[in-house]
Amino acid sequence: MKAVVLYEHGQMDKLIYEENYPDPECGPGDVVVRVKATSLNYHDLFTRNGMPGLTLELPRICGLDVAGEIAETGADVKNFKVGDAVLIDPRNRVEGGLVGETIDGGLAEFCRAPEHQLIPIPDGVSYADAASLPVAYGTAHRMMVTRGQVNKDDKVLIMGASGGVGTGAVLLAKILGAEVVALSSSEVKMQALTDMGADHVINYLETEWVKEIWKLYTKPHRRKYEGGVTVVVNFTGGDTWVQGMRCLRRGGRMLTCGATDSFDPKTDLRYVWSFEFDIRGSNSWEPEDLTALLAMIQAGDMKVPIAGTYPLSEATEALRLIEDREVIGKVIVEP
Ligand SMILES: NC(=O)c1ccc[n+]([C@@H]2O[C@H](COP(=O)([O-])OP(=O)(O)OC[C@H]3O[C@@H](n4cnc5c(N)ncnc54)[C@H](OP(=O)(O)O)[C@@H]3O)[C@@H](O)[C@H]2O)c1
Repeated sequence: MKAVVLYEHGQMDKLIYEENYPDPECGPGDVVVRVKATSLNYHDLFTRNGMPGLTLELPRICGLDVAGEIAETGADVKNFKVGDAVLIDPRNRVEGGLVGETIDGGLAEFCRAPEHQLIPIPDGVSYADAASLPVAYGTAHRMMVTRGQVNKDDKVLIMGASGGVGTGAVLLAKILGAEVVALSSSEVKMQALTDMGADHVINYLETEWVKEIWKLYTKPHRRKYEGGVTVVVNFTGGDTWVQGMRCLRRGGRMLTCGATDSFDPKTDLRYVWSFEFDIRGSNSWEPEDLTALLAMIQAGDMKVPIAGTYPLSEATEALRLIEDREVIGKVIVEP
């Protein structure tokens, strides 16, 4: 099969486009999916580069989010048949492991998965939309809904709002009825976020954005604890960690699911105690997050912003968009 294969960690030139890579073998409890769409994530860059503390067996096919049509079923597969449209939940909850990282993923014509990782794609949901969901939107769903309990009374500041998790957080916050302030780095991204429903959009490179938040939300007075947003969504880390604290109201929730910039930022405990913050971590998703999102798309309540669709031979260009922060929403590769 055709596949994009990572033989060693490094830069983009380490992802090799192969025309005759071995097809995956279908075990008795497995299916082989003909990949129709895979979406890329910042995680693919972590995998390509190599992550401190995690040794991966190489070669590996990246691409965590995989949607397609079943091409082959193993003898023990009971609930799916050839031709079914399925989304692969990237997490193997039985044996452990993650598709596209410790298990071969979607940057290939075919992908093997055990039956227990399959989720049927409902009618009316495209392969590209389904493939956009697990890592970015599933994580956003768990962070905003399950862990964050965002609701109509919330004022939510979202950093990294233009990316995969970020656009998911913006769309979900609006569906939940909250007021949204999105931070972004360019006019084009700001316009896209406004079109997605963000109530306020701030260019954090060109403004003193903490002061812009105060202008919006410090009434009656932040020193008396009433001012600020009620929720900060921060998966960027680095210098933004304390800046986010300066925007948060007393009793507010800091939600985090990652650290794109750096995972060991300086913190300021004075804010944590005096403003009685509630810092809530959120990790990945459960199958229920994915079925809830599929239902939202099917009902027309959520439209996934797709930044671009690329053939397999141009997968590195698709990943470059993420690396160079040119992405708005999700990038799709269609093998
Ligand atoms: N825990 C989990 O299970 C889980 C699951 C999914 C993702 N994550 C994490 O969540 C984070 C976001 O993932 P994603 O796939 O949504 O990424 P993405 O699509 O690349 O979006 C990240 C956005 O963050 C902004 N940003 C700010 N500082 C940045 C920096 N130093 N480097 C790169 N981007 C920066 C960029 O927008 P601007 O240019 O507008 O600032 C960028 O578009 C990553 O750290 C990822 O590992 C965790």
